[in-house]
Amino acid sequence: MANSWDDPIYKSLFKRASKATNGEIDNFCMACHSPIGMTSMKLTGADIDSERHIPGVTCDVCHNISAITGHDNAAYVLTPDKNKPTKLGPHADAASPYHQTAYSDLHTRSEICATCHNVTHPFNSTPIERTYDEWQESVYNEQGIQCQDCHMTPGPGTNNNPGKSAVMGKERKHVYSHDFSGGNSTLHEYFGAKESAELARAMLRSAAKMEFIDLPKTVTKGDTVTIKVKVTNIGAGHKLPTGFPEGREVWVDFKATSSNMQVYRSGEVIDGHTEKNTRNFKVWLGDANGNVVDLNVWEVDRVLADTRIPPKGFAIVDYTFVVPDNAGEHLTLNATLNYWPFSQHLIDELLGKGKLKVDIVEMTTASALITIAPASQQHTLITTTH
Ligand code: HEC
Ligand code: HEC
Ligand code: HEC
Ligand code: HEC
Repeated sequence: MANSWDDPIYKSLFKRASKATNGEIDNFCMACHSPIGMTSMKLTGADIDSERHIPGVTCDVCHNISAITGHDNAAYVLTPDKNKPTKLGPHADAASPYHQTAYSDLHTRSEICATCHNVTHPFNSTPIERTYDEWQESVYNEQGIQCQDCHMTPGPGTNNNPGKSAVMGKERKHVYSHDFSGGNSTLHEYFGAKESAELARAMLRSAAKMEFIDLPKTVTKGDTVTIKVKVTNIGAGHKLPTGFPEGREVWVDFKATSSNMQVYRSGEVIDGHTEKNTRNFKVWLGDANGNVVDLNVWEVDRVLADTRIPPKGFAIVDYTFVVPDNAGEHLTLNATLNYWPFSQHLIDELLGKGKLKVDIVEMTTASALITIAPASQQHTLITTTH
């Protein structure tokens, strides 16, 4: 979030959006990607290429939010006070020599994230990003598990982080970390933040489980078989994947091999895209004519399809192919669940070819071995009698 203004992918898309709308959309983007830049430095679209440092979502954004007036589109209320700077936070007993402190219940709830993590099209109200709503409708909300419980810990599953949050602060049983790890390891790699990139990969690896289901024990040469793969969202408190809709994609790379021979494959990356017929989990946005919008998000008018996996939900995908007559004794099945924040194709289009390599993260894998029986007896009999 600290880099939400300097993010090269954001900058490039912002320039396109600004040009296409004659600057009409600039303030909209800036309200979430540089709240302080917009409110106090009076940013304009022209500042996007400026050399001066422009803050993204910084400490002072979140710790000055005193209220929200809605659950999307930057509906936060900032209350900076030059004479008596006060930081709002989760502790009623926090004392700082540098600023006033005030307790804020809002900071302990997902609603503080909602205003930026729900994006609605400013002109036609199409829901574009819905991370907060996805969480709000989930069992995590019912159980009182907030965004903070997963994204403000040192890593997935660690909800015990004793210590101090400031040098002169109090010793506390649990300190909420500020890594805010999501899935975008590519961006962290771009900024040279190796540790953050690894944390993002850990988040992704904690999110899903994958298994083969209803597997046949044996298959026969010449037979048509169907292999089913079940993918469960076990760790993400919203859809898998969530967030930026034009890019985020999770997919199964499935391979069936026999005696080192490839029998079937689906989910390969070809020319910077996942190949046609890849079983992927993704949302497709469309324009007013129902055509897919790849990148020009301001043209979005509707959601065309959404195959993402709901929190604690699952999806089953299947593959049908023929076991060839020249196969060996076994059929080996390998499935890898992959994530990328953007296809390489989109990044190349935005930044130019060879500028940024997208990090494909292996979230989980599954494999199985099936015995291949020779072609059926009857078939053999017929050929021998002739
Ligand atoms: C995206 C919003 C956001 C940003 C940016 C942010 N914080 Fe926080 N911070 C929070 C929230 C939310 C909590 C409370 C979490 C809870 O208790 O559930 C918090 C808690 C804290 C706490 C108390 C931690 C504890 O558990 O005892 C301190 C101190 C703090 N923030 C300082 C900072 C500083 C310094 C920065 C900048 C380097 C910063 N924050 C940036 C949202 C943010
Ligand atoms: C003022 C707006 C704002 C608020 C409030 C805010 N965020 Fe964000 N957040 C952003 C923006 C903008 C980005 C995208 C930065 C980028 O990739 O350019 C982001 C990115 C993230 C990411 C990284 C996503 C990735 O792709 O890896 C996580 C995780 C995240 N936010 C969690 C939270 C949580 C949890 C809260 C509430 C405690 C919160 N945010 C509050 C604006 C906000
Ligand atoms: C139960 C734990 C959990 C909760 C609750 C949760 N998240 Fe996540 N979140 C994850 C995991 C795991 C990932 C990585 C997998 C993915 O990308 O979906 C993730 C990914 C993300 C991303 C990056 C998505 C991407 O691929 O670009 C954002 C942004 C985000 N979360 C924001 C939020 C916000 C905002 C909330 C609250 C409304 C929230 N999360 C609640 C676990 C959680
Ligand atoms: C309501 C808040 C909000 C508004 C308005 C908004 N964004 Fe974002 N944007 C986010 C959040 C939150 C994320 C992170 C989601 C995720 O990680 O999947 C994000 C992510 C992005 C990303 C992906 C960055 C990356 O490195 O993967 C791009 C690009 C982007 N926004 C561009 C824009 C542009 C251009 C506009 C204006 C047309 C805009 N955004 C308006 C909140 C907003």
